[in-house]
Amino acid sequence: MKFFLKHFDLNAAKTDCIIIGVFKFCELTSSARILDAQSNGYITQLVQQGDIDGEIGTYLLLYDVPNVTSKRILLVGCGEKNNFSLCFLTKIMKNTIQILNKSSIQHVIFALTELSSHKDQIYWFIRKIISDIQKEVFKIHTFFKKDIYLNYIAFNINNNCFLSAQIALKHSIAINLGLTAAKKLSNLPPNICNPLYLSLQAEKLSEKYKDHIKVKTIDMNKMKSLGMYAYLAVGNGSKNKPYMSVIQYNKTNIFNKKIIVLIGKGLTFDSGGISIKPSQKMHEMKYDMCGAAAVYGTLIMAAELNLPLNIIGVLAGCENMPGGSSFRPGDVLTTMSGKTVEVLNTDAEGRLVLCDVLKYIERFSPDIVIDVATLTGACVVALGHYATGLFSNNKDLLNDLKKAAQQTDDKVWQLPLLKEYEKDINSNIADFSNVGNQGAGAITAASFLSQFAKKYSWAHLDIAGTAWESGKNKGSTGRPVELLSQFLLNISNLTKY
Ligand code: BES
Ligand code: MN
Ligand code: ZN
Repeated sequence: MKFFLKHFDLNAAKTDCIIIGVFKFCELTSSARILDAQSNGYITQLVQQGDIDGEIGTYLLLYDVPNVTSKRILLVGCGEKNNFSLCFLTKIMKNTIQILNKSSIQHVIFALTELSSHKDQIYWFIRKIISDIQKEVFKIHTFFKKDIYLNYIAFNINNNCFLSAQIALKHSIAINLGLTAAKKLSNLPPNICNPLYLSLQAEKLSEKYKDHIKVKTIDMNKMKSLGMYAYLAVGNGSKNKPYMSVIQYNKTNIFNKKIIVLIGKGLTFDSGGISIKPSQKMHEMKYDMCGAAAVYGTLIMAAELNLPLNIIGVLAGCENMPGGSSFRPGDVLTTMSGKTVEVLNTDAEGRLVLCDVLKYIERFSPDIVIDVATLTGACVVALGHYATGLFSNNKDLLNDLKKAAQQTDDKVWQLPLLKEYEKDINSNIADFSNVGNQGAGAITAASFLSQFAKKYSWAHLDIAGTAWESGKNKGSTGRPVELLSQFLLNISNLTKY
């Protein structure tokens, strides 16, 4: 799919289709008025006789409009003129793409950009529209297994908005590249995407972006020498051995010297281990590596945009299986930090892997650490599938993540890290137990992690409810790549809006 920005003379433009808007109460957008005048009021006539009422979701495809050089015109309903907001755009775009694809249209001029006439809005307008288009196209491809005919979309842009639109286009394309990479990786079956496979994908990044990305792979032996016994215990029951990838994205001569670490839970399959899960939805636990995939995708975005930052991505690959060498309920593990953990449930494995990674990354003296994990079913109970659970030990980091979430509509909701919850993970034979038993499972899991994240500003994103969709169109959502990307763009001070 190719995107272009240009100021068109719509009357003379040669294309398969020009897309224009009509509001409720027979009002036309400015592009629609231009083509209406050219066709001697043809469009007004259709609108007035009631062929389209301008409601969002309505459309009318016109052929051979008098005096218009474009083969077709697609009129789309944009709702009430004074009530238009970016959230309607998603619905409009979804319809539009499907209609265009049904008619095998390849080449379009998108003349709805005047809906955001304000120069400051054009950045977000273009960001949103391109991301909506790309998400819809990905869906048509992967779930409906249909061909996409559309391959050229030009946006009609006024000259005074051009620069903002250009930056938006560049950002959208990079973010979508990362998002798509994350989705594709997460959607792979666990017999293909095992911890080794995951680590090989990470290593490939250092080939593709060799100037800025270096990858170190930590295997089982290295983990042993580091004392990562909690991480190792989780992987012990599987013949697919654990691998941890450390992806270093470095830029020299940059203004922002902060070290940002992104950690992704990469359980390529979580059967629960000896505390085995019920079989009904167990297949979905191939998505237990969505955190790692999101970190992987976010680094692709950063490298594509050459962000002036130092980022370290860690993919914590592992497989949790029952077997003769599995760890057991009752085991006491010594973590890399030296703290001990009593295992009460082998299915609470994510925090065991992550606690060792949180210790490991201290060596980079990070300023900001964000872990992303499909950590708890309890988070799905608490927040459902709309908002990712957000926890943090730092107010500024919380605010920055909330802001990025709001900008991208990749929603988060903060849950508390109160001292009171800490006693829920007490153990009488170790420093901690790996599960609580007083409810608030998402919080006790986060509280467990926080014990290992005291040396830096840290946030934890529980994406158990948001990383994938179930059902017949099951698949990874790629969340929270957009959130993390925006967070990084904001720190880089590159967003113009
Ligand atoms: N990967 C799961 C969490 C999960 C469950 C994500 C369902 C998405 C949907 C995690 O490893 C897990 O099994 N957590 C347990 C913890 C419990 C044993 C304290 C859970 O949530 O049931
Ligand atoms: Mn589990
Ligand atoms: Zn898990």
